[in-house]
Amino acid sequence: MTVQDPILILNNIEVMYHEVILALKGVSLEISRGGIAALLGANGAGKSTTLKAISGLLKHESGEVTDGSIEFLGQHLERKSAEEIARLGIIQVIEGRRVFEHLTVEENLRVGAHLQGNGSRLRQGLELVYTYFPRLRERRQVAAGFISGGEQQMAVIGRALMTAPKLLLLDEPSMGLAPLLIKEIFDIIGRLNREEGIAILLVEQNVKLALAIAPYAYVLENGRLVMHGSAATLRENPDIRDFYLGLTELGARKSFRDLKHYKRRKRWLT
Ligand SMILES: Nc1ncnc2c1ncn2[C@@H]1O[C@H](COP(=O)(O)OP(=O)(O)OP(=O)(O)O)[C@@H](O)[C@H]1O
Ligand SMILES: [Mg+2]
Repeated sequence: MTVQDPILILNNIEVMYHEVILALKGVSLEISRGGIAALLGANGAGKSTTLKAISGLLKHESGEVTDGSIEFLGQHLERKSAEEIARLGIIQVIEGRRVFEHLTVEENLRVGAHLQGNGSRLRQGLELVYTYFPRLRERRQVAAGFISGGEQQMAVIGRALMTAPKLLLLDEPSMGLAPLLIKEIFDIIGRLNREEGIAILLVEQNVKLALAIAPYAYVLENGRLVMHGSAATLRENPDIRDFYLGLTELGARKSFRDLKHYKRRKRWLT
């Protein structure tokens, strides 16, 4: 596929960790300016690795893009630092909604604005976040360790918005949240895309949810892209369901992974 007016183009990228572990093998994907695409796949497929390759966070984990190219608005990202990439307008919300627990919600948001200085841009940023997430306005003076999981997810997305991104990389924002909160958060993600024009690459395990918001999706398996197409096409593909149902059969993993499996499994069964 070649999208009209692309904001991001991954061309055949290969990623290695610690110079030996080949995590991505020739992944290509495109997102149009102001578009949304979903990146689907089972545990360990390489979804987070793809996001980290784009955002530059890979370098903090001894990972490296060893082949292929990543272009954002015509600029090559492969050798850039996470900070340079953030300045270009790409921000990743990492898996696991990590807030600074001892800081208030508003302080957490201000951390996200360190690239913006302290003036009117900061106030505009806060106003934007509170407009989309009224719950965060209500909770702004509360320590982030004491708000609910859903509010923490809102806070980390809010923190990312404070950088005024052109492209937002979201890593499993629904994980471990109750269905009503997931709906609330996904509605807001959709509005941020439509109303603010922020392009989004959404990593999800919940296929139904992802395809409801993203008109186009890519499917990773063992570091390779195995399928891509419109939401309508993928929704009807029997392999997609098998692929995800197969997930529950995967072998033993340690604590956090087990919890993820459990939550995912529950999601499929309900
Ligand atoms: N820091 C790292 N060092 C070495 N190998 C890693 C590292 N991070 C990930 N990997 C490996 O790279 C592969 C892809 O991992 P990745 O975290 O990208 O998968 P994922 O699709 O995000 O999975 P999940 O759904 O569990 O979050 C896995 O085999 C994983 O073990
Ligand atoms: Mg991941």
